[in-house]
Amino acid sequence: MPNLPLGLPSEKSFYNREGELKRLKNYLNALSNDIAEEILVTGYRGVGKTSLLKKLMNELPENILVTYIDISRIYGSQKGEITEELIMINLLNAMNDAVGKRDGEITNKIYSTVKNAFKKISMKEYDFKNAGAILGIAVPDIKDNYRKLSQFVMEFPQKVVESSKGELKGVVIIIDEFQLMGGLKNPHAFFWMIRSYAQEQSNVSYIFTGSTSKTSEIVEMMNGPNGAFGGRMIQFNVDPFTKKEVKGYLHEKLPEIKFTEDGLERFYECTRGIPAYINTFGNTMSASDVYNSETVKKTFFDKMDQITVMWIKIWGTLSPNEKEILISLVENGPQTWSELLEKVDFTRGTLAKYLDILKNKGLISSDEKRYLLDDHLLEVWVKNKKISDGYYPP
Ligand SMILES: Nc1ncnc2c1ncn2[C@@H]1O[C@H](COP(=O)(O)OP(=O)(O)OP(=O)(O)O)[C@@H](O)[C@H]1O
Ligand SMILES: [Mg+2]
Repeated sequence: MPNLPLGLPSEKSFYNREGELKRLKNYLNALSNDIAEEILVTGYRGVGKTSLLKKLMNELPENILVTYIDISRIYGSQKGEITEELIMINLLNAMNDAVGKRDGEITNKIYSTVKNAFKKISMKEYDFKNAGAILGIAVPDIKDNYRKLSQFVMEFPQKVVESSKGELKGVVIIIDEFQLMGGLKNPHAFFWMIRSYAQEQSNVSYIFTGSTSKTSEIVEMMNGPNGAFGGRMIQFNVDPFTKKEVKGYLHEKLPEIKFTEDGLERFYECTRGIPAYINTFGNTMSASDVYNSETVKKTFFDKMDQITVMWIKIWGTLSPNEKEILISLVENGPQTWSELLEKVDFTRGTLAKYLDILKNKGLISSDEKRYLLDDHLLEVWVKNKKISDGYYPP
């Protein structure tokens, strides 16, 4: 059995993305000239956004400090409730850990002072006076703890660069699964707050990424004409592998599996070039066969549950209303708002609310007037469940 990564690929199993890496590095290298770009990385579920950014992290020059946080982790640890405060604490912790990994007198001092301040954070006493003094951040003595915390956290990266005496040229902050910040009480205010600091900081670049549709409310909120960044963010889409890349990938990472020309063509059609599916599908194949179009198709349906394993997990997290909308889109294909309203069993307000949620989660998008599913294999999986079990997945 082949053994392609189902988690993040190792250095050895990572394939290509040369062009993407080069472009991203170009944007970030501008930090050395005191130019900070903000970047929004979008792309289908499983297309390789996280893998690409993790790879990027390893390839940035020494003088750039990189921090990565994953909002879904915070979400998970809080059983679905997140707050601005928690995000700030996580961000500070991640930044400080990155600072701590460096080997320098100033960075060591910053690290241990902030680490000390953390002991108090758990008691909700945000006392950053000592840390603020080192970094030159005038921490206001205000009663509102969250404001004090957020000011310190948001000013931290730029101040670290400034106090590093040239050792650091910039900080890159990667925020993964950012669409989940839509679940905050007031995401607008939070994004505006980040933007207000970001625009003052010439050595801090933010990269937001997540599985969300390019047309989602959350992308609008962030970078739409009336959004916090008002279109000034660089929107960077990670595309699925092309047919040629799929061929190259299989050849390089899975040489033991043999295809006829039309078998390979069919494999590409089934996976649509999405690495998550290429890996799960590839892992079900056997080295003793030569796969043609027919046997690829047969294997695809036989091993459907294994190939679409990520949907089983995601489906389990959806609410009944979300499932109802998705099933209606599977059954009837793309639909307008009024067609959907006729088919589903709830009010206008509820429909509007859940359509937004599904868009934020990157499960559906809208083109002109119609809503459609974002992922072909979600559709195939739901349909196939109905055929094999007699009912839609509960
Ligand atoms: N360049 C690559 N080379 C090899 N494998 C890859 C590559 N990119 C992604 N993969 C594989 O594809 C799968 C999905 O990748 P990843 O989690 O990075 O996608 P994602 O876009 O972040 O997905 P999600 O939207 O669910 O967060 C992983 O199993 C990973 O190993
Ligand atoms: Mg990801």
